[in-house]
Amino acid sequence: MPQPHHSTVLAQLTEKFAPQLSLVRRALTTHLSTEDPLITEAVGSLLSAESKYVRPVLSLVCSELVDDSTDHSILLGVISEYIHMASLLHDDVVDHTSVRRGQPTCRAQFGNARAVLAGDYVYARACELIATTGSVAVLKLYAEAIRLMSAGEVMQLADLHTPQIDHTPMDLTRYQQIIRAKTGALMAATAAAPYELKAMKSPEISTHTATVKSLYDYGMYLGMAYQVVDDILDYSTTTQSTKPPWQDFNEGKLTLPMYYCLRGFDAAEQEFFQQTFFDTPRRLEAQAWYASQLHKHRALQHSRAYATELTDHASAALENAFDVPHHGKQLRDLALDLAARLR
Ligand code: IPE
Ligand code: IPE
Ligand code: MG
Ligand code: MG
Repeated sequence: MPQPHHSTVLAQLTEKFAPQLSLVRRALTTHLSTEDPLITEAVGSLLSAESKYVRPVLSLVCSELVDDSTDHSILLGVISEYIHMASLLHDDVVDHTSVRRGQPTCRAQFGNARAVLAGDYVYARACELIATTGSVAVLKLYAEAIRLMSAGEVMQLADLHTPQIDHTPMDLTRYQQIIRAKTGALMAATAAAPYELKAMKSPEISTHTATVKSLYDYGMYLGMAYQVVDDILDYSTTTQSTKPPWQDFNEGKLTLPMYYCLRGFDAAEQEFFQQTFFDTPRRLEAQAWYASQLHKHRALQHSRAYATELTDHASAALENAFDVPHHGKQLRDLALDLAARLR
């Protein structure tokens, strides 16, 4: 079944790298075959369900771009996907989510405690694999990503449970901070890691810092755009997804479309928002009002424009170090495509 999240370029890249992705898929299972059936069982549904493998694809494209012939591209893809999987195991606990990738989540099947511990296990496995690369720079990139992902989730949680508008600036800056951390950081690390490994083996490379920065920034903007798209699709009733629609709203999570409403609210609307959004039964009762506000404030249109802005930044970051038409075309097209399918 075609996935709405599957952009054309992502689909093409998935096909192009099919042999490598099948190695990634196999390695994901192999490195998590533990002797403890409780762990195997806990990660089972996440492992068996189809991921879009965006992060391994990004890793493979970036390895090819920097011409890393050291055969670490599969390993880096596995590392990124493990970190992503671990964050999902934890995220579904935090968000009380029951369905992920069309299947019951670990927490729904086995409870929160198992899901948290399984998430830790998968993070630890990723760390062991990072150690096998022998690169402190790669370790630094991924460790920073894991730290930022936790920080982003905590920031989001603060908005969810202590909605004091006076201490929490609920504006676009706040949203940017959150998505940079929770989604951008891992994509940034994923995009930059292949070049760090190449540089470790080729000390003669002189453009090191600028190239790493360019790839990192590209991944960061692409990841942010990816999260914005995910947040838009959550409110899009016309698309089918493996995630149920209006989930963010049901969770009481403030995402970009709602920030655009907030920005446009008059005093009475602001008051109504304050009284209902953070009170679950009242929020759910007011769903039709929120739907009309999204429409009135053109929240999805504004969100799409912002996603396009981010993908433009991604392409521009790439141009800082690569001759994009010759090298880096796939990455630029991936960014453009993400924006295009929102129009
Ligand atoms: C879900 O990630 C969380 C977000 C950052 C939006 P994906 O949309 O990449 O999920 P899978 O891995 O394909 O299930
Ligand atoms: C996904 O975040 C987890 C991370 C990016 C760390 P969300 O909670 O926004 O995404 P979904 O909707 O559950 O996939
Ligand atoms: Mg979440
Ligand atoms: Mg979630």
